[in-house]
Amino acid sequence: MKRILIVGAGGQIGSELTPYLRAIYGEANVVATDVRECKALAETGPFEVLDALNPTNMASVVARHRIDTIFNLVALLSAVGERNPQMAWGVNMGALLNSLEVARQHHCAVFTPSSIGAFGPSSPKDGTPQDTIMQPTTIYGICKVTGELLGNYYAHKYGLDTRSIRFPGIISNKTLPGGGTTDYAVEIYYEAIRHGRYTCAVPHDVYMDMIYMPDALKAVVELMEADPARLRHRNSFNIASMSFTPEIIAAEIRRHIPTFEMTYDVDPVKDEISRSWPNYLDDSCAREEWGWKPDWDLARTTEDMLAAVRRKLEAEK
Ligand code: SER
Repeated sequence: MKRILIVGAGGQIGSELTPYLRAIYGEANVVATDVRECKALAETGPFEVLDALNPTNMASVVARHRIDTIFNLVALLSAVGERNPQMAWGVNMGALLNSLEVARQHHCAVFTPSSIGAFGPSSPKDGTPQDTIMQPTTIYGICKVTGELLGNYYAHKYGLDTRSIRFPGIISNKTLPGGGTTDYAVEIYYEAIRHGRYTCAVPHDVYMDMIYMPDALKAVVELMEADPARLRHRNSFNIASMSFTPEIIAAEIRRHIPTFEMTYDVDPVKDEISRSWPNYLDDSCAREEWGWKPDWDLARTTEDMLAAVRRKLEAEK
């Protein structure tokens, strides 16, 4: 049985990946950590406050809990990263480097997310290949490309089992994403239910890849459980499940809320970032090497999101 450490467990991915992994590997085997106290995670298994930028404390948690697999989920997202690039580099790379170093010293496997943001304006836009030009123009993307290269370096140089996925924008209904360019595809559902309208900061016609959280969670576990003999790539795999523009998701919501209105107040930073990212990725390597296959398309995701967000907002009243 794996002994797992999750770093940055309180964020958008961690708040759902933690219970998902606990259900599979046993509550006691999944140690959640975050820079802040997280009541929900602490109630359902081991939890420690941990600053991912402190390698000594990270190593001590790993040793005490006899960890063999680290999931590093710490990151400032793309739009917020542009407001303070130096801090984004310090946090994103600091947490990753500490995870890799502690993993090297304690012989752990490492999972860390990469992103569609690892691509840039010079990457092929449609069906972006697994192996292609990667010259991102955001600090977030630069951290992701560097992280991919570092992951491969630690695998090559030290024999570490490092694996990673280039996530599309993740649509979820538990914890809000914090400052990404794809956040609109989450916010739109909340605002549609709360107010019947949404003002979108991303241009109406820009395609970006998106994924529903249940598919993202499934992908992480399937990749980490994959037979290493079949993996020709490690850091990082393209995955894809749906790609749409703001106009397309608005139309899908209108099938359920016919009076839903969408207006635009395009944010210049999100405009530039969203235009620099691919329209959709080619995920054939993930399909061939570890059997990736999504279950959720936009229609099903929208139905489920509207129901889940409605329940959540009702319960908060
Ligand atoms: N969701 C991220 C962002 O928009 C991309 O990985 O920054």
